[in-house]
Amino acid sequence: MKKIGIIGGGAMGSGIAQVFAQYGHPVVLYDTNKEALDRSKQNLAKTFEKLVAKEKYTAEKAQEIQNNIEYADSLSAFASIDLMIEAIIENLDIKKSVFKQVEEIVSDECILASNTSSLSIASIASACSKPERVIGIHFFNPAPLMALVEIIPAVQTREGLADEVKALIQSVGKLPVITKDTPGFIVNRVARPFYSESIRLLEEGVADAETIDFAMTSVGGFRMGPFELMDFIGHDVNYRVTESVFESFFYDPRFKPSFSQKRLFEAGFYGRKSGRGFYNYAEGVEKKAPSQDQALLEKIYKRVLVMLINEAADALFLNIANREDLDTAMTKGVNYPKGLLKWADEYGLENVQNDLDELYNYYHEDRYRLSPIIRNFVKENKTFY
Ligand SMILES: NC(=O)c1ccc[n+]([C@@H]2O[C@H](COP(=O)([O-])OP(=O)(O)OC[C@H]3O[C@@H](n4cnc5c(N)ncnc54)[C@H](O)[C@@H]3O)[C@@H](O)[C@H]2O)c1
Repeated sequence: MKKIGIIGGGAMGSGIAQVFAQYGHPVVLYDTNKEALDRSKQNLAKTFEKLVAKEKYTAEKAQEIQNNIEYADSLSAFASIDLMIEAIIENLDIKKSVFKQVEEIVSDECILASNTSSLSIASIASACSKPERVIGIHFFNPAPLMALVEIIPAVQTREGLADEVKALIQSVGKLPVITKDTPGFIVNRVARPFYSESIRLLEEGVADAETIDFAMTSVGGFRMGPFELMDFIGHDVNYRVTESVFESFFYDPRFKPSFSQKRLFEAGFYGRKSGRGFYNYAEGVEKKAPSQDQALLEKIYKRVLVMLINEAADALFLNIANREDLDTAMTKGVNYPKGLLKWADEYGLENVQNDLDELYNYYHEDRYRLSPIIRNFVKENKTFY
């Protein structure tokens, strides 16, 4: 069993520690903050109390799993680990200095991974004397429940390491996908239009948030509408991701953030957790009833869907990931009802092309440019599957 060292005992680090411990791996969880370690240990105990009550585990097994985790306040505990996963604050300079420190303690064979959501793995690896052993392993929140894990080899990563890591991640019950080291990896790149196109529809006054949410859940089959979901994630998180993806893509207009969301962020209207976002969560405030105009609901659904399909298709066009991994990422990472490339085939690639060309011709904005792969496939009468 490989010994896993995890840095950062916050939401992600604790969840990742649980995943490996459940599969019998010895885990060392390190955090500079002693309280974070205590909290992590207590939360895990509570989680397992519930799982035992639900008869998912026997009390003995639950204890055995918890005993697999050692809580360490010194990095010296990392001397014999095989894999390090870093899950600390999202700050490049701090991550780089932590990777440097770890490299001095671990063996030459130890794999060094980051759980970063938005930083480039190449930039983190550049801090190391052996950058070829650095890779991204991006879990989703909450790690014990979300099956998807994005694996991100950097330009420096040695050949074959991504496949080794993939096998290890599979062995702990997860669904790994391999993606290029580009902004947002798969999920945070391809999902952008779900939010941005919905906000655009709201800003243009095509419909209100309630109606757009209703269109995406009732016609589209998404579990949550975009506005409910943004309010749930929090605009502090969701807006920052949008802004960071936009900047990292050298300001490609396709990823442009919106003023509506920026203002919510600036006002501290983060959504559910602060009582107000796109919706007002104060007691007694009821949501408006959505429009039942089927033609309007269809129009909203189609516009957001073709934008999502275009993003997934473009990621395939640019070899960010393969077809299966792109679809798995969206169904398992953000619970989309179908993979977007499969959905594209069902919707008809010619329909996707016509819808997007119509939007482009109307707006003359680069955000609506069709991915060449769709135009080529239509011409050649091909489908994604
Ligand atoms: N929260 C999410 O939804 C999510 C999802 C996927 C990836 N991520 C990424 O995972 C990482 C961690 O996110 P989180 O939400 O768990 O953060 P968090 O704030 O919950 O936890 C971070 C922990 O790291 C500790 N820490 C900070 N600096 C440290 C250092 N130098 N050495 C050791 N410990 C240190 C803090 O004490 C804290 O306990 C980030 O890179 C984030 O982008 C987050």
